[in-house]
Amino acid sequence: DFMREISGLKVLEEKLKETLKLKNVFVVAGNSDDSPWVKRELGRACVSRIKERLTVNNIVAVTGGTTLAAVADMMQMDCKNLHTLFVPARGGVGESVENEANTICAKMAQHTNSNYRLLYVPDQVSSEVYASIVTEPSVKEILDLIKSSNIVIHGIGDAVTMARRRSTSAAEWDAITTGHAVGEAFGYYFNEQGEVVCKVRTIGMQLEDLQNVSHVIAVAGGASKAKAIQAVIGQGHTSILVTDEGAARELLKSI
Ligand code: F6P
Repeated sequence: DFMREISGLKVLEEKLKETLKLKNVFVVAGNSDDSPWVKRELGRACVSRIKERLTVNNIVAVTGGTTLAAVADMMQMDCKNLHTLFVPARGGVGESVENEANTICAKMAQHTNSNYRLLYVPDQVSSEVYASIVTEPSVKEILDLIKSSNIVIHGIGDAVTMARRRSTSAAEWDAITTGHAVGEAFGYYFNEQGEVVCKVRTIGMQLEDLQNVSHVIAVAGGASKAKAIQAVIGQGHTSILVTDEGAARELLKSI
């Protein structure tokens, strides 16, 4: 803590709390855009925040991405007596297997001696197929678990980076560019004002469901994500932000 004090991380945290109107902000040293080990530090810091909040019988919903994969890698704790259940927050949003919410969810459960449930939904299907999938009893059961989660851990991405990483349809690209999207989380694209301009069609947790979640933990770093972080936090659902110096300094610069 003394090291964090003298390296100015505490000052950054206080400034970010004020700017983003957030009670809990945690900043790790470095910029994950430049140094891969910073992502692991984000993961480690995120795990500590989860540990502080985890109580008995919690349902923890997680999203995908490389940052969440780092959180899963850093998770080492025995939660057997806590009866924690890990679930993916939403169905497929177009991530590669190792960065999929399902994979990360299973890994977290393994690393904590907990249980998990998975959600199998194809990435790109018609609205008719989606409508019928949600009525499948086995899917509906998981959806109910997701909606009753107490803790949500999610990543945030730069809008264009995410649209490129996924198979994004022409119509979605159009919405993302004309809507000036800067950030993405949960399959939703946000503009600088924090408004939703495009949404990936998949089942699971919807933005409005976050209102009922006690701890919404956002974990994202790198200077390139500054605008994205600000846009997503602007939604007002976040209870804790775990970020890095790179993102923090860039974000405060633009104010
Ligand atoms: O695709 C899942 C997701 O959590 C997105 O919602 C988010 O924008 C992205 O991953 C973050 O990915 P990364 O941590 O690799 O930057």
